[in-house]
Amino acid sequence: MWRCPLGLLLLLSLAGHVALGAKQGRVRRELAPGLHLRGIRDAGGRYCQEQDLCCRGRADDCALPYLGAICYCDLFCNRTVSDCCPDFWDFCLGVPPPFPPIQGCMHGGRIYPVLGTYWDNCNRCTCQENRQWQCDQEPCLVDPDMIKAINQGNYGWQAGNHSAFWGMTLDEGIRYRLGTIRPSSLVMNMHEIYTVLNPGEVLPTAFEASEKWPNLIHEPLDQGNCAGSWAFSTAAVASDRVSIHSLGHMTPVLSPQNLLSCDTHQQQGCRGGRLDGAWWFLRRRGVVSDHCYPFSGHEQDEAGPTPPCMMHSRAMGRGKRQATARCPNSHVNNNDIYQVTPVYRLGSNDKEIMKELMENGPVQALMEVHEDFFLYKGGIYSHTPVSLGRPERHRRHGTHSVKITGWGEETLPDGRTLKYWTAANSWGPAWGERGHFRIVRGVNECDIESFVLGVWGRVGMEDMGHH
Ligand SMILES: *[C@@H]1O[C@H](CO)[C@@H](O)[C@H](O)[C@H]1NC(C)=O
Ligand SMILES: *[C@@H]1O[C@H](CO)[C@@H](O)[C@H](O)[C@H]1NC(C)=O
Repeated sequence: MWRCPLGLLLLLSLAGHVALGAKQGRVRRELAPGLHLRGIRDAGGRYCQEQDLCCRGRADDCALPYLGAICYCDLFCNRTVSDCCPDFWDFCLGVPPPFPPIQGCMHGGRIYPVLGTYWDNCNRCTCQENRQWQCDQEPCLVDPDMIKAINQGNYGWQAGNHSAFWGMTLDEGIRYRLGTIRPSSLVMNMHEIYTVLNPGEVLPTAFEASEKWPNLIHEPLDQGNCAGSWAFSTAAVASDRVSIHSLGHMTPVLSPQNLLSCDTHQQQGCRGGRLDGAWWFLRRRGVVSDHCYPFSGHEQDEAGPTPPCMMHSRAMGRGKRQATARCPNSHVNNNDIYQVTPVYRLGSNDKEIMKELMENGPVQALMEVHEDFFLYKGGIYSHTPVSLGRPERHRRHGTHSVKITGWGEETLPDGRTLKYWTAANSWGPAWGERGHFRIVRGVNECDIESFVLGVWGRVGMEDMGHH
């Protein structure tokens, strides 16, 4: 039954498109092991049908690309049932195909056996006995529907697929990418320093620490799947402040790992920690540079046990301390200990935070992170309502901490003017705006103005002398 009387004509016109050299095809065809002997992989594929291709006898060009190989729609292919396109029998001959129905499930041109699995983003799909896929239904950290809803809404920021988050569940994001324990009410109420604006004092509409202090503001690090933002944000603020307050005589990137591994009193390393405890440690014990004591947590997928502390510090007079061991990174000799003075809390008024930032450098801020923040790619962030209609498990949040580095204002296409903070996160330079983000200012968005800390680098006269 030939449903394609013009098959040969069509074939001539197709030959160029299909681009299978006749000579090469003939040789390959005689030597190639039959497709079907290895099992048809695309049982549902409509190949001959889509090109309306059926040829009598042998026609080596009557062929189509088939999953990296070639399949034929000519009668010759039927001689061994070896290299016919899967729909050759029912489309060209009008008979059922001579191979038994496949046992298993199809996905991406492959057959998976019963109980075979593949990953669809953060969900595992399993081939059931009934040859149907069944997939887990966990909310994923990167949710393409949420990305679309945010980008179509008029929220002032854009969402995207941060590849390091692809394949993680939302629950894993909350558990492994944050890691600051909300301070007790006692700590929350710690003494605030009230910065008073002088009468008539006007703050600039925009400010960026890296412009006022070039080369003294450090780039964001990547905490990986280590819930240690308490250590990363503390080390980040301390690095900048030590650099600023030493007038650039010392510009260390301080070691989050030193805090994660050694500040263990009521702290849980890559399972979370407290900001007040971190600052106590920086003041009383001090930490070395990140070169000396590098981060070891990138690879761990689970928040596993924190590696043991590799170095302590001991007093050497006048409150200064020195390390008790060489650097864990054996290529680095300088194991100087850096310390800070007591941390202070700022009032929650945005003007006070701005004045402190402008005079003394970046500040640390607690922040409540919601599901949509992981998708942030650029713009002025505020928590969107796109997940409001979804079940509870799609609307998750956890406590994080970041480094605020500046502020500004932007007029959106719709005429609204948004005031914002700029801040550095600890999710690496590929996330957000080169590792940074902007967030709406002045309305305590995501609690970012509720608990803001500043500190002074501890700098002695002797530190100002050498580099
Ligand atoms: C194609 O092959 C099948 C199975 O070998 C055979 O039964 C059938 O007669 C063949 N059809 C033609 C048209 O040669
Ligand atoms: C997101 O990024 C990952 C990794 O680069 C990629 O494999 C995945 O296909 C992307 N997903 C979407 C929806 O773009």
